[in-house]
Amino acid sequence: MKKYLVIIGSFLLILASCKQAKTETIEVTESSTEETKDLAINYEELGMKYAFDTKAVLGKNLMGTIKEKGVNAAVEFCNIQAYPLTDSMSVAHNVHIKRVSDKPRNTENQASSIELRYIESFKKAIANNEVPKPILDETEKEVTFYYPITTNTMCLQCHGTPNKELDAEAYKTIKALYPNDLAIGYHDNEVRGIWRVNFNKE
Ligand code: HEC
Repeated sequence: MKKYLVIIGSFLLILASCKQAKTETIEVTESSTEETKDLAINYEELGMKYAFDTKAVLGKNLMGTIKEKGVNAAVEFCNIQAYPLTDSMSVAHNVHIKRVSDKPRNTENQASSIELRYIESFKKAIANNEVPKPILDETEKEVTFYYPITTNTMCLQCHGTPNKELDAEAYKTIKALYPNDLAIGYHDNEVRGIWRVNFNKE
């Protein structure tokens, strides 16, 4: 029963994020000169949209797999599918989308030193019950958008505490696939990592 409630709760959360992604309309105004073109693009809104769209796709597929095949099979889904899914989003939008963490499961997702600082500032905001504000880094050629990825109770089946929320069978598979896994011991509504959405300005 509890498991069902968790699944229904998470489903609503994901629905909420789908809705958010759909109702947001992004207008990129065409413009004749290079300078005004940059000003017309709202990278903060675009970054938010891409992060939420990717979250919705990943979340929908993850929920579906857990429901149909169970948590352990879903680990394999994350292992095989998380990359192609975020990559396909990146290709579709001609931007690069990645998830990085201070406590990565996949060592490829280790946050850089500057990203670690951003994660700390997002953690402070969330601990203070503030709505986190996206961070934008801009150079001449690119804009990088950062936004926190937070946990809900569904995540704890694979990122929670051993012998508690963490699914015992799934944890065995996780340890076999990721011997250097750091991504456990999380609670609800904690910063699990950040979205990094990279836009090429050219
Ligand atoms: C069925 C198990 C499972 C569930 C449930 C799950 N994850 Fe993961 N998560 C994984 C696996 C496996 C990886 C490693 C994927 C890879 O190799 O890229 C991962 C990777 C991640 C990463 C990339 C950084 C890293 O540690 O490598 C983030 C961020 C993340 N998960 C957040 C979440 C959030 C937030 C939730 C809940 C909404 C969640 N996960 C639910 C299994 C899961």
